[in-house]
Amino acid sequence: MTADRTAPKPERGRTVHGEPANAGHRVLAPDDAEVEAYLEQALHAPPPARADDGAPAEPDTVVILDFGSQFAQLIARRVRELNVYSVVLPHDTPWSEIVRRRPRALILSGGPSSVYDEGAPHPDPAIWSAGIPVLGICYGLQLMAHELGGEVAPSAMREYGPASLQITAGDGLFRGLEPIQPVWMSHGDQIVRPPTGFAATARSETSAYAGLADAARGLYGIQFHPEVVHTPAGREILRNFVVDIAGARPTWTPAGFVESTIAGIRERVGDGKVICALSGGVDSAVAATLVHRAIGEQLTCIYVDHGLMRKRESELLRTTFAEHLGMRLVMVDARDRFLRRLAGIEDPEEKRRIIGDEFIRVFEEEATKLGQIDFLTQGTLYPDVIESKTAETKAAAKIKTHHNVGGLPADLRFSLIEPLRYLFKDEVRNVGIELGLPEAMVLRQPFPGPGLAIRIIGAVTAERLETLRQADWIVIDEIKAAGLYRSLWQSFAILTPVRSVGVMGDGRTYANVVAVRAVTSEDGMTADWARLPYDLLARISSRIVNEVAGVNRVVYDISSKPPATIEWE
Ligand code: XMP
Repeated sequence: MTADRTAPKPERGRTVHGEPANAGHRVLAPDDAEVEAYLEQALHAPPPARADDGAPAEPDTVVILDFGSQFAQLIARRVRELNVYSVVLPHDTPWSEIVRRRPRALILSGGPSSVYDEGAPHPDPAIWSAGIPVLGICYGLQLMAHELGGEVAPSAMREYGPASLQITAGDGLFRGLEPIQPVWMSHGDQIVRPPTGFAATARSETSAYAGLADAARGLYGIQFHPEVVHTPAGREILRNFVVDIAGARPTWTPAGFVESTIAGIRERVGDGKVICALSGGVDSAVAATLVHRAIGEQLTCIYVDHGLMRKRESELLRTTFAEHLGMRLVMVDARDRFLRRLAGIEDPEEKRRIIGDEFIRVFEEEATKLGQIDFLTQGTLYPDVIESKTAETKAAAKIKTHHNVGGLPADLRFSLIEPLRYLFKDEVRNVGIELGLPEAMVLRQPFPGPGLAIRIIGAVTAERLETLRQADWIVIDEIKAAGLYRSLWQSFAILTPVRSVGVMGDGRTYANVVAVRAVTSEDGMTADWARLPYDLLARISSRIVNEVAGVNRVVYDISSKPPATIEWE
């Protein structure tokens, strides 16, 4: 077979049809962000003032300078897993700004550039001589070598993927490790001559300087990526650097965070009144619980039951917050309102717009009843803060394009309380567990703001919602029983508009087809369909057709993202 030379070459980042490969992407997994943004809009909250990105009162911080690596946040997470607080700052952050964080150590991330590129990113040169330990990773190592007088050159062979590392100096960064280590490499350039004062600490097949150190100055570099799972000793290497070499104390714990955050909220709020929108997701649940611990009755939570939640979720929310925690919780039963507005609507974006619009109306009505409100609590997470280019939250910006909301007097002004703005998602879950929230809430998979409405393909009715809710419950129930719930990014049922023929007993049926979707993913941006065991799929299928009236066929979705999205609508 010969290749068709006239066919256009597929462009990177595009589908075979020429569309952007990520068309239809949603930002992060905004199960909470969306609902919170509705409230933000309804209350005309001012944009969050994020210019002064203060930090929690942590004694020991690691600053990560981001040179454009897709892994910068991952490095920060890995450091935090060592119970040491870390922040990601832009690569060109002035030294005065870095010092303000009182870092115990600096880590320079990798990045796509070559040190010889025009406009290659550089750090403030003060970092090299400040006496604070520095670890350069990949591009960070090359920068260190280049700027301190060594020589970097393009490799004859690009090293990408798994590689074998041979450790030649088993102290410092590599203390306690076996001399041969599998590592993950991704680089075009390499060090050909280290700067004066540096010695090689490790080599790989293609680079003689896969590790460098000048222990006297506290400068270390590695050509591979310790932050990815494909470097099994990565955690140990980072620990050696952060804890042993830099002497950072592992004080960043959920218990410590809870204590200092509660004290901070109490001081800030005084006797003010606070409002929070609960979505059923983990972020808003944890944020609300922290604020409630701090100021009790001064907090009111609003939960809009739009009738698009999964089975038992609204009930779990009520018992947890109102009964167990004794929170002031306004539960608005808006199920009929939403159903009426969604009647006959088939277009997914139209469904989203209607749901958002109705949400804001409900919130406005409820918030007005509460009188003066001083603060709005949101579950904004650290990745949102790092990534938001504007002062506005991404979800708010998106929603603003859809809604032109009026309502409350424009001179009402709120301040935002964002107790989770320093945390990654996994840390939020740990804090939730520390606070004693139920696992079903804290460990819940992401769930879209518009809920089951975008998992019923075609028009939403009370009857179809009930059918989907039952089928979905079985999917989750069986996946939990198989011990797979937490390893999957999302797993759920979809009610398709297809009806198919079947037999049941002696009779012929003509009933609904339910699709099952389960995906693995790191962040929802890309996803792979999960290879669920056949016997699990068999149990899910037979339970659904036996237990859910009106369903006679179950199919499993074996599409990855891209080109498919996770949700069907
Ligand atoms: P897709 O389907 O775009 O989904 O691959 C990526 C992630 O985003 C979630 N998602 C939504 N979340 N409102 C939300 O709050 C929405 O309209 C929405 N649509 C998709 C989806 O569940 C997945 O985690």
